[in-house]
Amino acid sequence: MGQLNILFIGDIVGHVGLRKVVATLPSLIEKYKSDCVIVNGENIVDGKGLSEKEADELFANGAHCITTGNHVWENWKARTLLANNPRVLRPHNYPPENPGRGFTLVTLPDQRTVGVIQVQGRAYMQPIDDPFKSVDTAIAKLRMQATVLFVDFHADASAEKIAMGWHLDGRVSAICGTHTHTQTNDGTILPNGTAFISDVGMSGPYDSVIGMKKDIALKRMMLQTAHKYETAENDVRVCGAHIAVDEKTGIALEIEPFMIPAPRRTNTL
Ligand SMILES: [Fe+2]
Ligand SMILES: [Fe+2]
Repeated sequence: MGQLNILFIGDIVGHVGLRKVVATLPSLIEKYKSDCVIVNGENIVDGKGLSEKEADELFANGAHCITTGNHVWENWKARTLLANNPRVLRPHNYPPENPGRGFTLVTLPDQRTVGVIQVQGRAYMQPIDDPFKSVDTAIAKLRMQATVLFVDFHADASAEKIAMGWHLDGRVSAICGTHTHTQTNDGTILPNGTAFISDVGMSGPYDSVIGMKKDIALKRMMLQTAHKYETAENDVRVCGAHIAVDEKTGIALEIEPFMIPAPRRTNTL
């Protein structure tokens, strides 16, 4: 049975996150024998998107496709990147007049293909088009070209992500959530063979509030006034998931979420 291994890396925050991902990718690819590497890069430049420079670095270090999310639009260089590079995605269900695309067919160096789709949730986010209908459209377009389909569902609410998991079970190989920057403990293979996790978590500084400096985030919350966010720098970790897929059927065989280094669970003082 031929197996295709997908490595998915969660939202990279800041250049410190990018440095850590680039340094960690070779060992992850070796450990999981990854064939296809997909990276969410929505927060690399000061928390807002990425430019061609950061995308090129990720592609040069093993990535085959980059997904983004709501914050990509705050970076004007990212719009050029989205318009010019079909391997850099933005959520498919934004108005089509925006640059870029929300799905693509990735051809791997060994000529195998993986369809990658990104859609964005609407709960507590922009009221864009229906992600459920939007993902169906993308699946219909990619299905003839690829058996293995991967979905990055960029959404805030766990309920919406879980609903999307049931909507897609048996129709895609994997659906991994992004955007909350907090890894969930619900990684599983759904009954009809789709690998699912609500959120793979952030690849960035954990001495922070979801990647931003703690003191500024606390001021915003405690004073209820505007304070400019700054990307934090310390305790940088890489989060994501390894997914093994039967390449003939597209059914997922296993999902293994990871956080490197692992979180501290005991106090050694
Ligand atoms: Fe993010
Ligand atoms: Fe986001």
